[in-house]
Amino acid sequence: MKDLLKLDNDEFKVEMKTRTAHIEEILKSYLPENITQQKTIYDAMEYSLMAGGKRLRPMLMLEAYRLFGGKDESIVTPFMAAIEMIHTYSLVHDDLPAMDNDDYRRGRKTTHIVYGEDMGILAGDALLNYAYETVAKSMASGGKPELQAKAFAVLSQKAGIYGMVGGQVVDVEMTGKDLSEEQLEFIYRLKTGALLEASLMTGAVLAGASDEEVRAMEKVGRNVGMAFQIQDDILDITSTTEELGKPVHSDEKNAKSTYVAIYGMDESLKAVEEYSEKALNILLEFDMQNAYLNSLIEMLINRKK
Ligand code: IPE
Ligand code: IPE
Ligand code: MG
Ligand code: MG
Ligand code: MG
Repeated sequence: MKDLLKLDNDEFKVEMKTRTAHIEEILKSYLPENITQQKTIYDAMEYSLMAGGKRLRPMLMLEAYRLFGGKDESIVTPFMAAIEMIHTYSLVHDDLPAMDNDDYRRGRKTTHIVYGEDMGILAGDALLNYAYETVAKSMASGGKPELQAKAFAVLSQKAGIYGMVGGQVVDVEMTGKDLSEEQLEFIYRLKTGALLEASLMTGAVLAGASDEEVRAMEKVGRNVGMAFQIQDDILDITSTTEELGKPVHSDEKNAKSTYVAIYGMDESLKAVEEYSEKALNILLEFDMQNAYLNSLIEMLINRKK
């Protein structure tokens, strides 16, 4: 078996900082322009988007693009902005009173608390729409039409009923109820896994990866997604609102049947490691490796926020 290429800890931290800053710049550059009377919605979009999340999805997308030899960033940046807009919209709506009813996100009051519930709903709608508008505009101005169209199809499918939205639907419907292993897996794979799958898959597609390679990246995303959501459940219990930037004990408040609630803390910690290892093992099967991507997936196992 090959060795997994990794960065040492200090090098990884520096690289992560540089990459996060680069993504912040990209996001800023894709914010809407020419706002007049609808300025409130622009403010609410910017408020939620530029609040400083981990930027994990655009980061994974760019690294997948690089893994498959992608060089020209201009084709991938609109997709990076789009996935972070879609992810942010999912958070804005997830926090609404009708859903998880949470007051903090990314270290700030949630969008609906600051701008009202009506604008919270509209800001989510606006982010989702602007994500697709951003990608469509970039496609209309050149590039590699076939790859872009394929990536667009993946992105939209994974965000919708076969992806994040589908997962949220079952999450909401099953609140307060006992979940089978299969139901739990379904919810996590869709509500959280799907956008991570989309990130890795679109990056690969845009770099010209084969269908088989894209399917392998989907599996990587699925495993990272399971690990990520279980760790999210763990942190909801073990962290603090200050460190997380969002309320702890939100799952208990909402009577969510999480992985931790069902299997206990020890099993959950083990599962995070196991799913992450599975993801890394799939990556090891490719001829090429991306040391930063490998390190990032490994780092997520012990993430504190
Ligand atoms: C939070 O996602 C929602 C889940 C899918 C668990 P992140 O933990 O990636 O949130 P940000 O983007 O860093 O705020
Ligand atoms: C949400 O899961 C996943 C989304 C699609 C937003 P959670 O409800 O656990 O996410 P947090 O903990 O509020 O970020
Ligand atoms: Mg939720
Ligand atoms: Mg929530
Ligand atoms: Mg959570």
